[in-house]
Amino acid sequence: MKKAGKDKIGTYPEKLVTARNPKSAVAEAYRAIRTNIEFSLFDKEVKTILFTSATQGEGKSVVSANIAVTMALGGKKTLIIDADLRNPTQHKIFNIGNNLGLTNMLINENLHPDEVIIAASTDNLFILPSGPLPPNPAELLNSQKMRGFIASLTNYSDIILVDAPPINVVTDAAILASYLDGTVLIAASGQVVKEQAAAAREQLNKVKANILGVVLNKTPANGSYSYNYYYGGDNS
Ligand SMILES: Nc1ncnc2c1ncn2[C@@H]1O[C@H](COP(=O)(O)OP(=O)(O)OP(=O)(O)O)[C@@H](O)[C@H]1O
Ligand SMILES: [Mg+2]
Repeated sequence: MKKAGKDKIGTYPEKLVTARNPKSAVAEAYRAIRTNIEFSLFDKEVKTILFTSATQGEGKSVVSANIAVTMALGGKKTLIIDADLRNPTQHKIFNIGNNLGLTNMLINENLHPDEVIIAASTDNLFILPSGPLPPNPAELLNSQKMRGFIASLTNYSDIILVDAPPINVVTDAAILASYLDGTVLIAASGQVVKEQAAAAREQLNKVKANILGVVLNKTPANGSYSYNYYYGGDNS
């Protein structure tokens, strides 16, 4: 297991507000999201959670990274996987390298997960960056190898968060939703229109995704800052 060098608490990059400033209102909002997700998991065997959104740039990566930090701070052994094999950003958010990651794991028989998963300085927090971009992302995500790899990782952590591309744009997230235990939809207020959100839900329903809820992101609150809210999904 590699240790992330640059991500000591206090020097975490700006977007990881939950690690930089756990007492802030935003960190508090993330704790509320964590609690709501944990409630939605109550009594269910949900260990792998996909984060997606209808369209680009709604905040999937930043929100899933902060939820991962919040879960780890809450004592859960948490792994965040960057399965956005088209526009990966988790390595940037956590300020770590991306030479080795998920794609290497999928194409190289001899790699051990400990060689690609990075232990953050926050206890209980582990990051698997995307690795180099493949020419065939959907194919890799749909492979038996990927399914088996995710299944093997569930023995290794309490919860696995999976960051993915937008579901209305490419098929990758729908593929992941079909075999991961639950899906959280991120919806950026004022950015995504109702029809786009409905289309995203339809895609998810088509693959029988277990929609755990929706995080409403970028809501205008306290002037220029934005909070996140979470409410339960009903699969309708
Ligand atoms: N609540 C928020 N308040 C302000 N800015 C935000 C918020 N959430 C996300 N952003 C900003 O919006 C931009 C897009 O966020 P992010 O990369 O997480 O979106 P994404 O959905 O993962 O995008 P992509 O579809 O490209 O993967 C980033 O610059 C991020 O810092
Ligand atoms: Mg992203």
